[in-house]
Amino acid sequence: MAIPKAELHLHIEGTLEPELAFALAARNGVELPYADTEELRKAYLFDDLQTFLNLYYGLMAVLRTEADFEELADAYLARAAEQGVRHAEIFFDPQAHAARGVDMGTVVTGLTRALARSEERHGISTRLIMCFLRDQSAESAMETLQAARPYLDHITGVGLDSAEVGNPASKFTEVYAAAGELGLRKVAHAGEEGDPSYVWEALDLLGVERVDHGLRSMEDPELVRRLVADRVPLTLCPLSNVRLRAIDVLEEHPLARMMDAGLLCTVNSDDPAYFGGYVDDTFHAVHEALGLDRERLRELARNSFLASFLDGSAADEALRAKYLAEVEAYSFD
Ligand code: HPA
Ligand code: ZN
Repeated sequence: MAIPKAELHLHIEGTLEPELAFALAARNGVELPYADTEELRKAYLFDDLQTFLNLYYGLMAVLRTEADFEELADAYLARAAEQGVRHAEIFFDPQAHAARGVDMGTVVTGLTRALARSEERHGISTRLIMCFLRDQSAESAMETLQAARPYLDHITGVGLDSAEVGNPASKFTEVYAAAGELGLRKVAHAGEEGDPSYVWEALDLLGVERVDHGLRSMEDPELVRRLVADRVPLTLCPLSNVRLRAIDVLEEHPLARMMDAGLLCTVNSDDPAYFGGYVDDTFHAVHEALGLDRERLRELARNSFLASFLDGSAADEALRAKYLAEVEAYSFD
């Protein structure tokens, strides 16, 4: 059995496996520009974030109905359970669906149906985080926040994803302030391809509580000091970084050095259908490539629950304590 862990950086659209994509395409009468799953898989060779995003947004064309989103989330949760995931904070990209006429209600209702029975069916507690696409306008992000208002009971926080370089956090200062007023938690992708200034802006202008990726933080010692002092968690995604060529090979990933520097690191799968592994596969990969020993892996698992948005309520505190006890009791043998 895999070590118990929380997954905190997971785009639900990035869990769309080729088999499900073709099944949904057939059901919805959507034509895909690939003959079969094998040909589609061959397209999974990316030069950078943008070449991945092109395929990622394109394949979403098959997601149309509440049932599609429910099936997508249920398939992820089933796989995540096998990977030791006990708690999942799941991103979704409403603007990418609105672009095809699929509204917020369809997406959130479908996802929520799967999430509502996740504890019972998969043994995984869940939260939803709505991401704004940073290569779209601030106005569009604000409209998206407004469209989400009827569904806020189901949404824990907001995030920021898509093409980073040239779309700094400063563009979204007002949207994040408005999200904060609505009681939403805040995260943002930063320092994936962008330099450390993108991380500084996410912290200082958006007030994020967690940084998604934060890979390039080590380039700025002052930033590292800040992240350590404030115990800001980073949701690293090592397999993603290799596939999107942010780093050349996993052996060069800074994860071990970041942990040594005192950063609160977590390890996540990002878009596992595209990047060659789910989250426990990632734990195994960093163990092999970076020589992280069992206690380091346990530290990553512990961090994942500490960094989660389980809050101070009695129910959440009890869940967190239960999960942390499972981490400490886990035997790798
Ligand atoms: N970075 C930015 N946007 C994304 C990603 C990512 O890793 N995955 C899905 N959207
Ligand atoms: Zn991501």
